[in-house]
Amino acid sequence: ASVNNGSFQWSAPSNIALVKYWGKKENQIPANPSISFTLNACKTITKLDFSKKENKNGFSFDLLFEGKPKEDFKPKIQKFFERIAVYCPYLKSFHFTIDTQNTFPHSSGIASSASGMAALAMNIMSLEKLLNPEMPDDYFYQKASFLARLGSGSACRSVKGNIVVWGNHAEISGSTDLFGVPFSSEVHSNFKNYQDTILLVDKGEKQVSSTVGHDLMHNHPFAEQRFAQAHHNLSAIKNVIENGNLEDFIKIVESEALTLHAMMMTSMPYFILMKPNTLEIINKIWKFRNETKIPICFTLDAGANVHVLYPENVRVETLQFIKDELVGYCQNGQYICDEIGFGSQSL
Ligand code: PMV
Repeated sequence: ASVNNGSFQWSAPSNIALVKYWGKKENQIPANPSISFTLNACKTITKLDFSKKENKNGFSFDLLFEGKPKEDFKPKIQKFFERIAVYCPYLKSFHFTIDTQNTFPHSSGIASSASGMAALAMNIMSLEKLLNPEMPDDYFYQKASFLARLGSGSACRSVKGNIVVWGNHAEISGSTDLFGVPFSSEVHSNFKNYQDTILLVDKGEKQVSSTVGHDLMHNHPFAEQRFAQAHHNLSAIKNVIENGNLEDFIKIVESEALTLHAMMMTSMPYFILMKPNTLEIINKIWKFRNETKIPICFTLDAGANVHVLYPENVRVETLQFIKDELVGYCQNGQYICDEIGFGSQSL
């Protein structure tokens, strides 16, 4: 690519939080720190074409989804460009064509905002690096995560690393509210290739967006307790990731998922994103774990789908259980087998 025109292409994965981000301050600053597994199969692939334009009056871009024009995504991208403009003054000097696609089924209820915003941020940083070839690698990835955060908070955890911390925490050195950082302690072998099978319980549009949900943590009666709990759980899970204690891992992860939904149920206005089948699945997972002592657990995003997390060495028995007992609760029997991945990739 010359500095006048060219193209870049990046893939960025989705991620699943173990300690949840729920509640934010101005400028996408999280109210509490969070930690996530980066996924591998569920990702967004985005190609960015750029060409120099004469005027610098405003942003100019076309948006394609799976190769076809997609007008309804444009306001979101426009807003993203406006938010990052002060950090990326060169954006107004180019016309862009953004062509994006996801590896997971369209409107599967899997949020594409994390992977989508991360993939776009990576491409923008490639352009910045072209304009400033001396840029150090650390700066490239940190600023990519910083920009992704301004698109969608959790997107900053989809840039680099297989386990990522976002948000300032006393016991995690280098952690910051401004961008995600790869978990830097030793990861116990129990967590290598950890599996995440995503059960698609409800593929419909969410009734309440995560933006509204975050906002409802302002004036929430349990907000301060919840933020303190997230700090506590992050300390605890840091130790667990180092020492491999799966029993403790399960307790923290399931409690975090239920607490996230408890915050939704106790905000004003209150709402429920779980569906009856979400609860059926949770109960089946508990029964299976009690009976077999196989250390599988669940977690939830801001939706009805269930992520089933388990170590690689129980994969065969767990997948059999999922097929026999859980797939019946999935919409059209759909589920996605994923596992821990490593982050964004230049294609
Ligand atoms: O990135 P957002 O603003 O869509 O928030 C996502 C929040 C949760 O997915 C519910 C939790 C998390 O930490 O990812």
